[in-house]
Amino acid sequence: MRKPKGKRSIWRGIYNPDKNYILGRTPRNWGSLLIFYTIFYTILAALFAICMQGLLASLSDEEPRWQLDKSLIGNNPGVGLRPIPDNLDRGSLIWYDAKDKKQVDYWTGLLSQFLQPYTNRTLMVGAGKNQVQCDFDKGPGYGQVCAVNVDKLGPCSESNGFNYNKSAPCIFLKLNKIYNWEPEYYDDINNLPNEMPQDLKDEIKSLPVNQRKQVWVSCNGERSSDEESLRGMKYFPSRGFPGYYYPFKNAPGYLSPLIAVKIERPTLNRIINIECRAWAKNILYNGSLRDRQGSIHFELMVH
Ligand SMILES: *[C@@H]1O[C@H](CO)[C@@H](O)[C@H](O)[C@H]1NC(C)=O
Ligand SMILES: *[C@@H]1O[C@H](CO)[C@@H](O)[C@H](O)[C@H]1NC(C)=O
Ligand SMILES: *[C@@H]1O[C@H](CO)[C@@H](O)[C@H](O)[C@H]1NC(C)=O
Repeated sequence: MRKPKGKRSIWRGIYNPDKNYILGRTPRNWGSLLIFYTIFYTILAALFAICMQGLLASLSDEEPRWQLDKSLIGNNPGVGLRPIPDNLDRGSLIWYDAKDKKQVDYWTGLLSQFLQPYTNRTLMVGAGKNQVQCDFDKGPGYGQVCAVNVDKLGPCSESNGFNYNKSAPCIFLKLNKIYNWEPEYYDDINNLPNEMPQDLKDEIKSLPVNQRKQVWVSCNGERSSDEESLRGMKYFPSRGFPGYYYPFKNAPGYLSPLIAVKIERPTLNRIINIECRAWAKNILYNGSLRDRQGSIHFELMVH
């Protein structure tokens, strides 16, 4: 009996004894192919390793590669506001009925969540052991960061519900972190800018000289009609971000300082446009809608 032709030809495809082919190539041919690819991939891997080395050598855990002017973030810190609604339809409108517990809880819940890194020790680096109480003549030591106390904010503290149920809510301000950014302070009371609000000027003048190294903040109604709906603001713990928190060097556990602003008895049932601005010589300001800098805008409506 003859073997079926098909099966035979499959075997001949794998090994052809007439021509000494294995899978269509001579052993010699296979050998040179193997050598070629070995060299090819070795060189490829070497090039990759060299590039990776170069990249890693130029990166650092503590220090960004591009800083201040050279970075895309730039050197003009933005002003951050909390609470911001988690539902984007609301825009930057803080709108609630002070008698409605559910609505009050919504906003105070957002703030409590925002303050977690400041209040919850389990979230802090090393349970917050490297936090120290700083002062204008005592900055943080090596490996330390200045503590940010959020329990002594008077009516704006969490235990008081941030004052939302009394129709005079508190908002929180912070400056966005920029590595190595150092404020140039308005600390010369004879040389304060003309456009600075008078109440802030008075406040700065009333402070002892060694406490004037702060990034000041002011909040105001955006138009005069807004201003009429406001009866002032109170700032806790003070009107500025103290200088000992700067520059930010990415120390583990660093927390941005916060200022709570209590909006005193805003006119009810009206949308009030409020702008908060940070003051340092090297914080550029632009209040235009398209290119806002050094300030933040929000609307408030309390029922
Ligand atoms: C603190 O944070 C931890 C971890 O996220 C969480 O399990 C815990 O409930 C928080 N404690 C408080 C008091 O919120
Ligand atoms: C507002 O809330 C705080 C904290 O939850 C509470 O102690 C206070 O009694 C409340 N005030 C009013 C007027 O409901
Ligand atoms: C603010 O930004 C707008 C839009 O980019 C620009 O036209 C305006 O000149 C800027 N104002 C200042 C004071 O820089």
